[in-house]
Amino acid sequence: MRGIILAGGSGTRLHPITRAISKQLLPIFDKPMIYYPLSTLMLAGIRDILVISTPNDLPLFQRLLGDGAQWGIRLSFAEQPRPAGLAQAYVIGADFAGRENSALILGDNLFFGHGLPDLLRAAELRRNGATIFAYRVDEPQRYGVVELDARGKPLAIEEKPKAPRSHWAVTGLYFYDGRAPAFASKLTPSARGELEITDLNNVYLSLGELHVEKMGRGFAWLDTGTPESLIEAGEFVRTIQTRQGQVIASPEEVAFGFGWITGEDLQRLIAAMNKSTYAARLASLLE
Ligand code: DAU
Repeated sequence: MRGIILAGGSGTRLHPITRAISKQLLPIFDKPMIYYPLSTLMLAGIRDILVISTPNDLPLFQRLLGDGAQWGIRLSFAEQPRPAGLAQAYVIGADFAGRENSALILGDNLFFGHGLPDLLRAAELRRNGATIFAYRVDEPQRYGVVELDARGKPLAIEEKPKAPRSHWAVTGLYFYDGRAPAFASKLTPSARGELEITDLNNVYLSLGELHVEKMGRGFAWLDTGTPESLIEAGEFVRTIQTRQGQVIASPEEVAFGFGWITGEDLQRLIAAMNKSTYAARLASLLE
Protein backbone atom coordinates (compact mmCIF):
# COMPACT_ATOMS: atom_id res chain seq x y z
CA MET A 1 0.00 0.00 0.00
CA ARG A 2 1.32 3.41 -0.96
CA GLY A 3 0.29 6.90 0.08
CA ILE A 4 0.26 10.25 -1.66
CA ILE A 5 -0.04 13.66 0.01
CA LEU A 6 -1.05 16.50 -2.28
CA ALA A 7 0.28 19.67 -0.72
CA GLY A 8 0.54 22.38 -3.32
CA GLY A 9 -0.68 25.92 -2.88
CA SER A 10 -3.37 27.22 -0.65
CA GLY A 11 -6.62 27.64 -2.51
CA THR A 12 -8.02 31.08 -3.18
CA ARG A 13 -9.52 32.06 0.14
CA LEU A 14 -6.18 32.28 1.99
CA HIS A 15 -4.25 33.88 -0.79
CA PRO A 16 -2.85 37.05 0.87
CA ILE A 17 -1.40 35.18 3.88
CA THR A 18 0.18 32.42 1.83
CA ARG A 19 1.59 34.32 -1.13
CA ALA A 20 5.12 33.10 -0.46
CA ILE A 21 4.61 29.48 0.62
CA SER A 22 2.09 26.66 0.52
CA LYS A 23 -0.16 26.69 3.55
CA GLN A 24 0.65 23.05 4.35
CA LEU A 25 3.95 24.38 5.73
CA LEU A 26 2.14 26.70 8.17
CA PRO A 27 1.64 25.56 11.74
CA ILE A 28 -1.64 24.24 13.08
CA PHE A 29 -0.96 25.02 16.73
CA ASP A 30 2.34 23.26 17.53
CA LYS A 31 3.26 21.44 14.32
CA PRO A 32 3.23 21.97 10.57
CA MET A 33 -0.08 21.35 8.83
CA ILE A 34 1.37 18.51 6.75
CA TYR A 35 2.04 16.47 9.91
CA TYR A 36 -1.72 15.91 10.21
CA PRO A 37 -2.32 14.15 6.86
CA LEU A 38 1.08 12.47 7.13
CA SER A 39 0.24 10.93 10.49
CA THR A 40 -3.19 9.92 9.16
CA LEU A 41 -1.56 7.87 6.39
CA MET A 42 0.87 6.41 8.91
CA LEU A 43 -2.07 5.41 11.15
CA ALA A 44 -3.40 3.45 8.18
CA GLY A 45 -0.12 1.52 8.29
CA ILE A 46 1.26 3.18 5.15
CA ARG A 47 5.03 3.61 5.12
CA ASP A 48 5.76 4.50 1.49
CA ILE A 49 4.60 8.05 0.89
CA LEU A 50 4.95 10.52 -1.99
CA VAL A 51 4.67 14.23 -1.22
CA ILE A 52 3.56 16.36 -4.17
CA SER A 53 3.90 20.13 -4.06
CA THR A 54 4.82 23.18 -6.10
CA PRO A 55 8.33 23.53 -7.58
CA ASN A 56 8.82 26.42 -5.18
CA ASP A 57 7.85 24.62 -2.01
CA LEU A 58 8.96 21.06 -2.64
CA PRO A 59 12.50 21.79 -1.34
CA LEU A 60 10.96 23.20 1.85
CA PHE A 61 8.93 20.05 2.38
CA GLN A 62 12.07 18.01 1.75
CA ARG A 63 13.99 20.01 4.32
CA LEU A 64 11.17 19.73 6.84
CA LEU A 65 10.43 16.02 6.43
CA GLY A 66 13.67 14.49 5.17
CA ASP A 67 13.56 10.99 3.75
CA GLY A 68 11.29 9.69 6.52
CA ALA A 69 13.87 7.26 7.95
CA GLN A 70 13.68 9.08 11.31
CA TRP A 71 10.06 7.87 11.52
CA GLY A 72 10.62 4.45 10.00
CA ILE A 73 8.95 5.41 6.72
CA ARG A 74 10.09 6.24 3.18
CA LEU A 75 9.25 9.64 1.77
CA SER A 76 9.68 10.67 -1.84
CA PHE A 77 8.85 13.95 -3.49
CA ALA A 78 7.44 15.11 -6.81
CA GLU A 79 6.57 18.46 -8.35
CA GLN A 80 3.20 19.59 -9.55
CA PRO A 81 4.01 22.55 -11.82
CA ARG A 82 0.52 24.07 -11.58
CA PRO A 83 -2.56 23.27 -9.48
CA ALA A 84 -4.28 21.40 -12.29
CA GLY A 85 -6.53 19.28 -10.12
CA LEU A 86 -6.46 16.72 -7.34
CA ALA A 87 -6.69 13.73 -9.67
CA GLN A 88 -3.44 14.87 -11.27
CA ALA A 89 -1.77 13.32 -8.22
CA TYR A 90 -2.28 9.99 -9.98
CA VAL A 91 -0.77 11.24 -13.22
CA ILE A 92 2.29 12.62 -11.40
CA GLY A 93 2.36 9.65 -9.04
CA ALA A 94 1.66 6.97 -11.66
CA ASP A 95 5.09 5.35 -11.41
CA PHE A 96 5.15 5.67 -7.66
CA ALA A 97 1.76 4.00 -7.22
CA GLY A 98 2.40 1.45 -9.95
CA ARG A 99 -0.31 -1.18 -9.74
CA GLU A 100 -0.44 -1.19 -5.99
CA ASN A 101 -3.35 -0.04 -3.92
CA SER A 102 -2.88 3.45 -2.60
CA ALA A 103 -4.35 6.24 -0.54
CA LEU A 104 -4.46 9.91 -1.47
CA ILE A 105 -4.83 12.60 1.19
CA LEU A 106 -5.02 16.35 0.79
CA GLY A 107 -2.29 18.20 2.66
CA ASP A 108 -4.82 20.47 4.34
CA ASN A 109 -7.21 17.84 5.73
CA LEU A 110 -7.23 17.09 9.47
CA PHE A 111 -8.91 13.98 10.84
CA PHE A 112 -9.32 13.14 14.49
CA GLY A 113 -11.50 10.71 16.36
CA HIS A 114 -11.85 7.55 18.38
CA GLY A 115 -11.78 4.57 16.02
CA LEU A 116 -9.94 6.38 13.23
CA PRO A 117 -7.16 3.76 12.99
CA ASP A 118 -9.78 0.98 12.63
CA LEU A 119 -11.65 2.89 9.94
CA LEU A 120 -8.41 3.48 8.03
CA ARG A 121 -7.27 -0.10 8.42
CA ALA A 122 -10.58 -1.39 7.06
CA ALA A 123 -10.17 0.77 3.95
CA GLU A 124 -6.55 -0.29 3.64
CA LEU A 125 -7.52 -3.96 3.73
CA ARG A 126 -10.14 -3.65 0.96
CA ARG A 127 -8.44 -5.07 -2.12
CA ASN A 128 -10.78 -3.89 -4.90
CA GLY A 129 -12.49 -0.65 -5.77
CA ALA A 130 -12.28 2.69 -4.04
CA THR A 131 -13.20 3.88 -0.57
CA ILE A 132 -14.14 7.46 0.28
CA PHE A 133 -15.30 8.98 3.55
CA ALA A 134 -18.45 11.03 3.96
CA TYR A 135 -18.82 13.61 6.70
CA ARG A 136 -21.97 15.55 7.52
CA VAL A 137 -21.45 19.28 7.12
CA ASP A 138 -23.56 22.38 7.34
CA GLU A 139 -22.43 23.86 4.01
CA PRO A 140 -22.16 20.96 1.57
CA GLN A 141 -21.97 23.25 -1.47
CA ARG A 142 -18.34 23.97 -0.55
CA TYR A 143 -17.33 20.32 -1.12
CA GLY A 144 -17.75 17.22 -3.19
CA VAL A 145 -21.16 15.92 -2.12
CA VAL A 146 -22.30 12.30 -2.13
CA GLU A 147 -25.91 11.19 -2.24
CA LEU A 148 -26.55 7.89 -0.45
CA ASP A 149 -29.46 5.47 -0.56
CA ALA A 150 -31.13 4.10 2.57
CA ARG A 151 -28.47 1.39 2.90
CA GLY A 152 -25.59 3.82 2.56
CA LYS A 153 -24.78 2.97 -1.06
CA PRO A 154 -23.65 5.93 -3.16
CA LEU A 155 -26.05 7.13 -5.86
CA ALA A 156 -24.18 10.20 -7.15
CA ILE A 157 -21.26 12.48 -6.37
CA GLU A 158 -21.17 16.09 -7.44
CA GLU A 159 -18.38 18.63 -7.06
CA LYS A 160 -19.51 21.80 -5.28
CA PRO A 161 -23.16 21.56 -6.37
CA LYS A 162 -25.29 24.72 -6.14
CA ALA A 163 -28.21 22.61 -4.93
CA PRO A 164 -26.62 19.78 -2.88
CA ARG A 165 -28.59 16.54 -2.75
CA SER A 166 -27.35 15.73 0.74
CA HIS A 167 -25.32 17.07 3.66
CA TRP A 168 -22.63 14.43 3.16
CA ALA A 169 -19.35 16.01 2.09
CA VAL A 170 -16.62 13.87 0.58
CA THR A 171 -13.48 14.30 2.69
CA GLY A 172 -10.01 14.69 1.22
CA LEU A 173 -8.94 11.10 1.89
CA TYR A 174 -9.34 8.47 -0.79
CA PHE A 175 -8.32 4.80 -1.05
CA TYR A 176 -7.98 3.30 -4.53
CA ASP A 177 -7.06 -0.03 -6.02
CA GLY A 178 -4.24 -0.38 -8.54
CA ARG A 179 -6.31 0.97 -11.43
CA ALA A 180 -6.31 4.59 -10.21
CA PRO A 181 -3.37 5.80 -12.36
CA ALA A 182 -4.90 4.24 -15.48
CA PHE A 183 -8.32 5.77 -14.76
CA ALA A 184 -6.74 9.16 -13.95
CA SER A 185 -4.83 9.17 -17.22
CA LYS A 186 -8.13 9.06 -19.11
CA LEU A 187 -9.81 11.95 -17.31
CA THR A 188 -10.33 15.24 -19.10
CA PRO A 189 -10.22 18.66 -17.43
CA SER A 190 -13.49 20.00 -16.02
CA ALA A 191 -15.07 23.36 -16.84
CA ARG A 192 -12.71 24.97 -14.29
CA GLY A 193 -9.75 23.36 -16.07
CA GLU A 194 -8.90 20.75 -13.42
CA LEU A 195 -8.62 16.98 -13.32
CA GLU A 196 -11.32 16.46 -10.72
CA ILE A 197 -11.04 13.86 -8.00
CA THR A 198 -14.84 13.69 -8.15
CA ASP A 199 -14.54 12.46 -11.76
CA LEU A 200 -12.12 9.72 -10.68
CA ASN A 201 -14.53 8.72 -7.91
CA ASN A 202 -17.36 8.70 -10.45
CA VAL A 203 -15.43 6.19 -12.57
CA TYR A 204 -15.47 3.79 -9.61
CA LEU A 205 -19.10 4.68 -8.88
CA SER A 206 -20.15 3.83 -12.44
CA LEU A 207 -18.44 0.44 -12.07
CA GLY A 208 -20.34 -0.15 -8.84
CA GLU A 209 -17.02 -0.26 -6.98
CA LEU A 210 -17.16 2.86 -4.86
CA HIS A 211 -17.49 2.29 -1.12
CA VAL A 212 -18.56 5.12 1.11
CA GLU A 213 -17.75 5.03 4.81
CA LYS A 214 -19.58 7.52 6.96
CA MET A 215 -17.52 9.32 9.56
CA GLY A 216 -20.01 9.86 12.35
CA ARG A 217 -20.17 12.68 14.84
CA GLY A 218 -17.47 11.13 16.98
CA PHE A 219 -14.99 12.26 14.37
CA ALA A 220 -13.60 15.67 13.66
CA TRP A 221 -12.83 16.53 10.06
CA LEU A 222 -11.39 19.99 9.89
CA ASP A 223 -10.81 22.28 7.07
CA THR A 224 -8.16 24.98 6.72
CA GLY A 225 -9.45 26.74 3.65
CA THR A 226 -10.32 30.08 5.24
CA PRO A 227 -8.57 32.24 7.88
CA GLU A 228 -11.38 31.34 10.29
CA SER A 229 -11.14 27.59 9.76
CA LEU A 230 -7.35 27.77 10.02
CA ILE A 231 -7.49 29.29 13.47
CA GLU A 232 -10.36 27.02 14.53
CA ALA A 233 -8.26 23.98 13.63
CA GLY A 234 -5.40 25.32 15.78
CA GLU A 235 -7.80 25.96 18.67
CA PHE A 236 -9.21 22.47 18.36
CA VAL A 237 -5.76 20.87 18.54
CA ARG A 238 -4.75 23.08 21.45
CA THR A 239 -7.91 22.22 23.39
CA ILE A 240 -7.55 18.47 22.95
CA GLN A 241 -3.84 18.38 23.66
CA THR A 242 -3.99 20.66 26.70
CA ARG A 243 -6.86 18.72 28.22
CA GLN A 244 -5.27 15.32 27.62
CA GLY A 245 -1.63 16.26 28.06
CA GLN A 246 -0.96 14.32 24.89
CA VAL A 247 0.11 15.16 21.39
CA ILE A 248 -2.06 14.40 18.37
CA ALA A 249 -0.98 13.98 14.75
CA SER A 250 2.63 13.36 15.64
CA PRO A 251 4.63 11.21 13.19
CA GLU A 252 7.03 10.44 16.05
CA GLU A 253 4.22 9.13 18.22
CA VAL A 254 2.65 7.00 15.48
CA ALA A 255 6.05 5.55 14.53
CA PHE A 256 6.85 4.74 18.15
CA GLY A 257 3.38 3.29 18.77
CA PHE A 258 3.71 0.95 15.80
CA GLY A 259 7.25 -0.06 16.76
CA TRP A 260 8.72 1.47 13.60
CA ILE A 261 11.21 3.31 15.82
CA THR A 262 12.58 2.37 19.22
CA GLY A 263 12.49 4.31 22.47
CA GLU A 264 16.11 5.23 21.90
CA ASP A 265 15.28 6.58 18.45
CA LEU A 266 12.48 8.63 19.96
CA GLN A 267 14.79 9.94 22.65
CA ARG A 268 17.26 11.11 20.00
CA LEU A 269 14.52 12.86 18.03
CA ILE A 270 13.28 14.61 21.17
CA ALA A 271 16.80 15.70 22.10
CA ALA A 272 17.13 17.40 18.71
CA MET A 273 13.95 19.45 19.30
CA ASN A 274 15.28 21.62 22.11
CA LYS A 275 12.64 22.85 24.53
CA SER A 276 9.47 22.93 22.48
CA THR A 277 6.21 21.91 24.12
CA TYR A 278 5.89 19.40 21.28
CA ALA A 279 9.08 17.74 22.52
CA ALA A 280 7.84 17.79 26.12
CA ARG A 281 4.62 16.03 25.14
CA LEU A 282 6.57 13.40 23.22
CA ALA A 283 8.88 12.88 26.18
CA SER A 284 5.89 11.82 28.27
CA LEU A 285 5.52 8.81 25.96
CA LEU A 286 8.77 7.46 27.32
CA GLU A 287 7.74 7.69 30.98
O1 DAU B 1 -11.36 18.98 1.39
C1 DAU B 1 -12.23 18.11 0.69
C2 DAU B 1 -12.60 18.67 -0.67
O2 DAU B 1 -11.37 18.83 -1.39
C3 DAU B 1 -13.54 17.70 -1.42
O3 DAU B 1 -14.80 17.68 -0.80
C4 DAU B 1 -13.71 18.13 -2.88
O4 DAU B 1 -14.43 17.16 -3.57
C5 DAU B 1 -12.34 18.31 -3.54
O5 DAU B 1 -12.46 18.80 -4.85
C6 DAU B 1 -11.50 19.30 -2.73
O6 DAU B 1 -12.14 20.56 -2.77
P1 DAU B 1 -11.36 21.93 -2.42
O7 DAU B 1 -12.15 23.07 -2.93
O8 DAU B 1 -11.01 21.94 -0.97
O9 DAU B 1 -10.04 21.76 -3.28
P2 DAU B 1 -8.91 22.80 -3.44
O10 DAU B 1 -8.82 23.18 -4.86
O11 DAU B 1 -8.99 23.89 -2.42
O12 DAU B 1 -7.61 21.92 -3.11
C7 DAU B 1 -7.45 21.23 -1.89
C8 DAU B 1 -6.00 21.30 -1.46
O13 DAU B 1 -5.16 20.67 -2.42
C9 DAU B 1 -5.47 22.71 -1.30
O14 DAU B 1 -4.71 22.75 -0.10
C10 DAU B 1 -4.58 22.94 -2.47
C11 DAU B 1 -4.17 21.56 -2.88
N1 DAU B 1 -4.10 21.40 -4.34
C12 DAU B 1 -5.19 21.67 -5.08
C13 DAU B 1 -5.18 21.47 -6.45
C14 DAU B 1 -6.42 21.76 -7.26
C15 DAU B 1 -2.95 20.91 -4.93
O15 DAU B 1 -1.94 20.65 -4.24
N2 DAU B 1 -2.92 20.73 -6.28
C16 DAU B 1 -4.00 20.98 -7.07
O16 DAU B 1 -3.92 20.79 -8.30
